[in-house]
Amino acid sequence: MATPYNVVVIVGSLRKESFTLKIAKALAKLAPDTLKLNVVTLHDISFFNQDLEATPPADWLGFREKLQQSNGVLFVTPEYNRSISGVLKNAIDVGSRPYGKSSFNGKPTGIVSNSPGQLGGVSAAKHLQNILPGICGPIMQQPEVYYLSGVGDAFDDKGELVKESLQKVLKQYIDAFAAFVEKHNK
Ligand code: FNR
Repeated sequence: MATPYNVVVIVGSLRKESFTLKIAKALAKLAPDTLKLNVVTLHDISFFNQDLEATPPADWLGFREKLQQSNGVLFVTPEYNRSISGVLKNAIDVGSRPYGKSSFNGKPTGIVSNSPGQLGGVSAAKHLQNILPGICGPIMQQPEVYYLSGVGDAFDDKGELVKESLQKVLKQYIDAFAAFVEKHNK
């Protein structure tokens, strides 16, 4: 089999029992053989500070390198106050610099938002669609079933995805994303 495409999955929540993290892990399991998902949490990314741009800290460099070496980037985000979380915005700022040399550049990009509420983090997804285009590659637009609502009862006590309807949606999404990544890496 050919080497799978390597996708960095950026998890926008630091919470230990995060639904966002569980969704990222479920996507990694559901992904077809053509895709290898590397789930990355943001606990170790220090605050972006423009004063440090000439001498970037090791954690920024490590994060940027992971992105540069990837074949695609998948954002999995919770919704905080009708937007994305602060830690996710910070990571995007870190990855987007130096000016004109964004590490997201050219990478086929996916967005998966979620919420235990009814609207599935749709505002967070829309905010990402606003801020990413200038600094990343093509963003997959469809399937637009990726605003995941009611995730509160989707996992068992081991963190395994047990809600069948959600499994189906995630499988459809990750298969479409695999095809999207392949198309943009040819
Ligand atoms: C939230 N939550 C939330 N939910 C939502 O659907 N829309 C929103 O605007 C917000 N705003 C918000 C702000 C802040 C500061 C917190 C801490 C939470 C609820 C949120 O969806 C819920 O806590 C999720 O469980 C967070 O995602 P993780 O940590 O489970 O991945």
